[in-house]
Amino acid sequence: MHLQSLATVLTFGSAALAAQLTQVSNYGGSARAKPGMWVYVPDKLQSNALVVAIHSCQSSAQKYFANAKIPWKQGSDRKGYVTVWPSSTTECWDVSSKASLSHDGGGDSNAIANMIKYAITQYKIDPKKVFVTGGSSGGMMSNVLAATYPDLISAVSLYSGVPAGCFVSSSGAAAAWNNTCSGGQSRATGAAWGNVVRAMYPGYNDTRPRMQIWHGSTDGTLAPQNYQETIKQWTNVFGVSETPTSSKPNTPEANYRMDDFGPNLEGIWAQGVGHSVPSHLDASEAWFGL
Ligand SMILES: *[C@@H]1O[C@H](CO)[C@@H](O)[C@H](O)[C@H]1NC(C)=O
Ligand SMILES: *[C@@H]1O[C@H](CO)[C@@H](O)[C@H](O)[C@H]1NC(C)=O
Repeated sequence: MHLQSLATVLTFGSAALAAQLTQVSNYGGSARAKPGMWVYVPDKLQSNALVVAIHSCQSSAQKYFANAKIPWKQGSDRKGYVTVWPSSTTECWDVSSKASLSHDGGGDSNAIANMIKYAITQYKIDPKKVFVTGGSSGGMMSNVLAATYPDLISAVSLYSGVPAGCFVSSSGAAAAWNNTCSGGQSRATGAAWGNVVRAMYPGYNDTRPRMQIWHGSTDGTLAPQNYQETIKQWTNVFGVSETPTSSKPNTPEANYRMDDFGPNLEGIWAQGVGHSVPSHLDASEAWFGL
């Protein structure tokens, strides 16, 4: 074969084999909510870790995956871990109904937990290496998953969300917007916020996911106060002080401040950054130990 045509064959051959985002049509479980499940298994699988990447409002698994600012496909290609991309059936994730704010309540959080269980079996994931990330509505869902499925998740890195339970709907509506919370008026003590988390999975007494919380100081969609409220919530859950043990300026980049609350909780306050803080792949992967 002529060398040039051999090169052409090889090029087309590898393009045909390249990993793609693929839908899993039946991931099982009995949740009433049925968001879509998409998965990306990199060509060079080199890790038994799983990252679940949860999209924002008015998005989907496919749009989020294709978004150049969402670096988890690149992380998966570089480090060889599997990523799962849930896709909502509503404009935003349901982080307001009792069904989604309860362990095994049948809502969106339950469905995503079912995706995680499916992925652990199907892709031979180490159950101790299940990580969750998301932005905006996906950041809210990350907090809700940490509260409802602490038994399934090892660590969370969430961007520009609100405390778990902050978007609760007084009428019980699913996927409802909550202006009080988005506006930063839902304020409570750490103990009260911690109780919200504990009530989502009553009786749970084992380890909880390590939490990394990112928020921008000029967020005009989910008020910056939600950073303080989320920090209060998780410091209470972990039983540590609301005052950071240290704050590192210009970390991980200029104008960001990293607040250290011990091994289980880290806050990153992005000075001058609005909604939503861009994903920082290296810092999130480092938090996950990837
Ligand atoms: C919005 O959320 C707060 C808690 O953050 C809750 O007290 C309030 O009832 C919710 N508002 C509506 C209209 O559901
Ligand atoms: C934790 O919960 C499990 C299961 O409900 C129970 O068997 C165990 O006694 C509890 N442990 C403590 C220290 O409360």
